[in-house]
Amino acid sequence: MQVDTTVNGTTRQDDVEDRLLLVHYLREVCGLRATNVGCDTTSCGACTVLLDGQSVKSCTVLAAQADGREVVTLEGLAGQDGALHPVQAAFRQEHGLQCGFCTPGMVMASVSLLTDHPEPSEQQVREGLEGNFCRCTGYHNIVQAVLAASGQVTR
Ligand code: FES
Ligand code: FES
Repeated sequence: MQVDTTVNGTTRQDDVEDRLLLVHYLREVCGLRATNVGCDTTSCGACTVLLDGQSVKSCTVLAAQADGREVVTLEGLAGQDGALHPVQAAFRQEHGLQCGFCTPGMVMASVSLLTDHPEPSEQQVREGLEGNFCRCTGYHNIVQAVLAASGQVTR
């Protein structure tokens, strides 16, 4: 089938198999490899992207379901000049990553969280990111990064 999408601000038309998952569409058809596959079973959140501004686990969504809709991946966050998105900058500043495998999904989930809750409490951050797993950091610095990105002093 043909899907018409806008991915990171660029309109596209692609012929895809009906069963193709959005994450594989983004990685293999669009060539956007920042979105990771950690489990393929809707558990880890590594594949999180924005679909019409809301975070979704792209291993749970068919590419066909993105037809007529807007997708943003990690590659779409930085400015034209390469400047980091404020959430990316906060993750760097607060050391919110180690191996980095979970980071694209964490950042996208955080962007969505901050859209819904511009000044979240620590509890709201923890609950908002509970669908995203990190094996490295213990989460503390990730939470601090999201609070910092919201403009709330964390140190
Ligand atoms: S790869 Fe999608 S939730 Fe883990
Ligand atoms: S930084 Fe390694 S899984 Fe999160």
